[in-house]
Amino acid sequence: MKKITLALNWKLYLNELESIEFVEKINHSKNQFDLIDLEIYPSATAIRSVRNVLNHSSIKIGLQDFSIFEKGAFTGSLSLSSIEIDCCIVGHSERRDFYNENDNLILKKLQISNAKKISTILCVGESLNEKEEGLSKERIKSQLSILKNLDIQIPLTIAYEPIWAIGTGEVPSKEYISDMLSTIKSELNTLYSHQKNSALRLFYGGSVDETNIRNLSDIVLLDGFLIGGASLNAKKFVDIIKKSSI
Ligand code: PGA
Repeated sequence: MKKITLALNWKLYLNELESIEFVEKINHSKNQFDLIDLEIYPSATAIRSVRNVLNHSSIKIGLQDFSIFEKGAFTGSLSLSSIEIDCCIVGHSERRDFYNENDNLILKKLQISNAKKISTILCVGESLNEKEEGLSKERIKSQLSILKNLDIQIPLTIAYEPIWAIGTGEVPSKEYISDMLSTIKSELNTLYSHQKNSALRLFYGGSVDETNIRNLSDIVLLDGFLIGGASLNAKKFVDIIKKSSI
């Protein structure tokens, strides 16, 4: 069985103390961690503490988002240089929806992480309306089209996250996910050389938990999962590792 990556997106759920508490709990199960590759995206304010408390050096820690401004008079902002990180997320649907992030801005962020050679997850996914109107693939292709302006130098991951599946408990069928991942793969094939393409990873995200990860893990094109809600509970998280690596 392939070694999959679990990327934990803690959003704005766990504050610094709660993040430390979580890591102290999962440290007890660290013998399980070798079964998977793990990336944790805590609140930015908890990154240093999570790194210090984690008892496992191969776990990557990243930023859930960052500003396009590197340094200066940008009150409230945070850049890729603000704190030591291994990876980052760009274009999550919550950034697109609540902060009006458009493809132009997302491209700028990708160009920045690419220039800094920081491994990046780019999230794409259709809304419920788009799905119902049969526009899912159009939406994904248009979100991916920004990549033609990016000469990738970094490990890039495309996370397919249908918005209607995020936090809803509704998970698409394996066939649906496979079909969308194939669409993503063939778009990437038109943009990049075979060599660059084989270094790209594909993730799925949206209501992944300990009850469905086993079933989803054998989707052929899948390299990993971006997990929100179910990654906030230490016991569930350890169960997820166990189930994903059977
Ligand atoms: P969820 O979130 O697992 O809670 O659906 C996934 C995500 O938003 O990345």
